[in-house]
Amino acid sequence: MSFPVRRFDAVIVGGGGAGLRAALQLSKAGLKTVVLSKVFPTRSHTVAAQGGISASLGNVQEDHWTWHMYDTVKGSDWLGDQDAIEFMTRQAPEAVIELEHMGMPFDRVPSGKIYQRPFGGHTAEHGKRAVERACAVADRTGHAMLHTLYQQNVRANTQFFVEWSALDLIRDSEGAVVGVVAMEMETGDVYILHAKAVLFATGGAGRIYASSTNAFMNTGDGLGMTARAGIPLEDMEFWQFHPTGVAGAGVLITEGVRGEGGYLLNSQGERFMERYAPTVKDLASRDVVSRAMAMEIHEGRGCGKDKDHVLLKLDHLGAEEILSKLPGIREIAINFAGVDPIKDPIPVVPTTHYMMGGIPTNYHGEVVVPEGDDLEKVVPGFYAAGECACASVHGANRLGTNSLLDLVVFGKSAGDSMIRYIQEQKEWRPLPENAGELTKSRLDRLENQTGGENVDEVRRELQRTIQSHAGVFRTDAILKEGVTKVFEIAEKVKRTEIKDKSRVWNTARLEALELENLIEVAKATIVSAEARKESRGAHASDDHPERDDENWMKHSLYNTQTKTLSYKPVHTKPLTVEYIKPAKRVY
Ligand code: FUM
Repeated sequence: MSFPVRRFDAVIVGGGGAGLRAALQLSKAGLKTVVLSKVFPTRSHTVAAQGGISASLGNVQEDHWTWHMYDTVKGSDWLGDQDAIEFMTRQAPEAVIELEHMGMPFDRVPSGKIYQRPFGGHTAEHGKRAVERACAVADRTGHAMLHTLYQQNVRANTQFFVEWSALDLIRDSEGAVVGVVAMEMETGDVYILHAKAVLFATGGAGRIYASSTNAFMNTGDGLGMTARAGIPLEDMEFWQFHPTGVAGAGVLITEGVRGEGGYLLNSQGERFMERYAPTVKDLASRDVVSRAMAMEIHEGRGCGKDKDHVLLKLDHLGAEEILSKLPGIREIAINFAGVDPIKDPIPVVPTTHYMMGGIPTNYHGEVVVPEGDDLEKVVPGFYAAGECACASVHGANRLGTNSLLDLVVFGKSAGDSMIRYIQEQKEWRPLPENAGELTKSRLDRLENQTGGENVDEVRRELQRTIQSHAGVFRTDAILKEGVTKVFEIAEKVKRTEIKDKSRVWNTARLEALELENLIEVAKATIVSAEARKESRGAHASDDHPERDDENWMKHSLYNTQTKTLSYKPVHTKPLTVEYIKPAKRVY
């Protein structure tokens, strides 16, 4: 064995909402559970979620989980799995009340119930009118959720390995997952964490793009490790562009601004969303609003000297409303755009925000792979939840606030599945002889590489390439060229060199290892996008402008080891209700 071994019942990689929710379940069941996190858990990227968590509580207006389910299926452009979507939207009210009972400090309506605001694509009675479904803690909902879940975990005795980075997954000869290899960042020491079950809750990978609302740490580590372990990545062509990133900075301005009554303007002072989505206007789903903004800019109606953004107006809400419901937005606008939204509109552009694809799972949080005739064979001991997982509830486009919901619903469900699996195991599955060898060879290569490529330069080249070849609008030619470029960059990633070889706090080494994860995400993205000859949700092709259900209502699976792309059908059978049949997606 290359590295020292430590043993846990459950290893959870990632200290955001999904990881913490799963850990709570496991620790409360008395299992020895450790959470590995690259940052202190309350600084995980969940902290950046602003506008709310969706649940059909109906505290402001009548609502029903079947309407939430309909909106989610429609939002997904019929690529979401309807069993998983039913599971999530039915559980939503209970999941939110559970958070409330844990102490999450939700805002309140006058009756004392949880405050809810409208959000993009949230409607009553199957699209008839906008509905208040996003349960909010001002514009800091993710922040409040993380602190609540962290405190509950401390009480439940979850162990935390803070500033640790997982490097590789360990599978035995039968393919079961039996642990991870991980590095303690402070010392550079590497360990094998032998586990009965492993959950990846590693978040997104928005850093494959040059402009993103994602934190710098969102480098797709879970996806990279999964791909290197021979497991395909699902639906990676679908990346969401949030309509309102601060122009030039990419920082998120919550959709809650539009939920509270803010709206978008072009250079002619026109509220252009009235033309693109006459019913719900600025509260259409994100892909629709982002494309409308891109069209306005493309057709010369952008604002500013370069006509490269539009404006988000909210001053009419009044200072009191802005200070009480959107205080964080005001701070962001002042710091990153140099405008005070109480007086002036915020310059915004669509910015990469969320990865709909990821590690293929079912709604129990179990990782599933195709094997023979079985398209969804469970990988024993391996679980994934949150943004890194593809359950698939978001399909081709996620509705705002369904991400926080996804974290707690599937974090809990994965935790429950892990408890069952761990309790069924009479004995530990042994580590394979070669455990840690892959990591050792990666680290040795970095140690010995001379005359190689500069990590920062290669990463920037990758980000620029993905930004311009897998953006809001795509064409066959742009994607084809993107495939060639990404595979050329992949060759450079194999030759990266770090000058500083010390072990202690060696961030250069970590960045080189993270780049090996980013490139796996980028390869899966560009190959899957190039192959999909239709427009669906966030994947918009100028050459194939229509959705093509006959040929393309299917999930893609890219396997980096075999360099093959395969497909599996969308789950069209919900658990208890009737199938929501595909229809034209208008808002
Ligand atoms: O706009 C927002 O507040 C983001 C929420 C989300 O991505 O779900």
